Amino acid sequence: MNILIVGSGGREHAIAWSVAKSPKADKIYCAPGNAGISQYAECVNIGAMEFEKLADFAQEHSIDLTIIGMDDPLVGGVVDVFEERGLKVFGPRKNAAILEGSKAFSKDLMKKYNIPTAGYENFEDSEKALEYLRTQAKFPVVLKADGLALGKGVLICNDLAEAEAGVKEIMEDKKFGSAGNTMVIEEFMTGREVSVLSFVDGKTIRTMTSAQDHKRAMDGDQGLNTGGMGTFSPSPFYTEEVDEFCRKYIYQPTVDAMAAEGRPFVGIIFFGLMLTPDGPKVLEYNARFGDPEAQVVLPRMKTDILEVMEACVNGTLDQTELEFEDNAAVCVVLASEGYPVKYEKGIPMSGFEKFEDKEGYYCFHAGTKLENGQIVTNGGRVVGITAKGKDLKEARKNAYEATEWIQFANKYMRHDIGKAIDEA
Ligand code: AMP
Ligand code: GLY
Repeated sequence: MNILIVGSGGREHAIAWSVAKSPKADKIYCAPGNAGISQYAECVNIGAMEFEKLADFAQEHSIDLTIIGMDDPLVGGVVDVFEERGLKVFGPRKNAAILEGSKAFSKDLMKKYNIPTAGYENFEDSEKALEYLRTQAKFPVVLKADGLALGKGVLICNDLAEAEAGVKEIMEDKKFGSAGNTMVIEEFMTGREVSVLSFVDGKTIRTMTSAQDHKRAMDGDQGLNTGGMGTFSPSPFYTEEVDEFCRKYIYQPTVDAMAAEGRPFVGIIFFGLMLTPDGPKVLEYNARFGDPEAQVVLPRMKTDILEVMEACVNGTLDQTELEFEDNAAVCVVLASEGYPVKYEKGIPMSGFEKFEDKEGYYCFHAGTKLENGQIVTNGGRVVGITAKGKDLKEARKNAYEATEWIQFANKYMRHDIGKAIDEA
């Protein structure tokens, strides 16, 4: 099969690595890709939002399957453009990607189909939101911009003054752009967070092994929210009992709800879960692999990724089972000092050769670029260092050891990725 992957981050690097392992893969392309992805794929200079150009490329290069890694093109309808031309593509159509694209939609869906989630109200008018906060809200309270906001459109407000400022930011100053035209006000939940990714073919769902992300920039979950500073898999807090509950009340009910709404979901559903004292509840849905969840889940997957993706597209997932290695993986993101606010790019990097022929160690590129034969930094999250181990402790030790192999002047990382496992 000739494959085109759309995206340019660490997640797409992990997808490209996984695809390259498949005996089914012939030629692999990635648009636009990055310096690390070019080890497995020919990078093509087409942006992820250039739908017609992507489809032209797929037609001209006899692509058998296009895999959309990122949320923006999915929510924007890239899958519909490919399908109109009869091209095979892995990902939800626009009318299903709304599961991630609109938090108000996903909350209403969960309410309608009794899927456990935090209590909430949706608002299109800032005056009404303020009135609700002044008269009915319990603090802390959570404000969410409805649309895509790079994972940053969520504000946890401890008191009314903070919440009033939050409404102004989201709905009036439009800090997250049109994502803030609608806002969700949600009950604050406590508990451990777990990410569960799944393959879905419209009817059947197959969940992958669990993972946990670390969203804050600094050790001890301090500092600003980021795209994710590191992950581990599996989560020791995701017990069989939790899994059983989620299968019954969350996973299949979500797939069935989307089908019942005339929005059959094909692709990846990412369940962001909170294990609250009242049981597991959905924090959010995403319509794609997590980044950096993919960087710990895919290296542990034994099943051929192309086989399962084809089964999703063909609607035959009920005939496929997923298999994962009985081990663990930890990913530590090496970022640019100052991320997620302000940071320098273009800094020369070294040490990549140390990963060659090292079984169970991976350097997934997120923001890198090749400049005159030299790899330089090109983003806030620069690379994700993943290592496997027989258990989480060994995987963590291995991953932190390997973080020393890559050098660049403004390297920054968290030192407590996976620390929570000590409490398990
Ligand atoms: P989201 O993008 O919806 O996953 O939100 C980003 C982060 O905000 C989550 O990973 C949680 O840490 C936090 N968060 C979101 N919703 C809630 C909630 N209802 N209660 C507590 N924390 C939340
Ligand atoms: N790591 C969280 C996300 O991909 O949304």
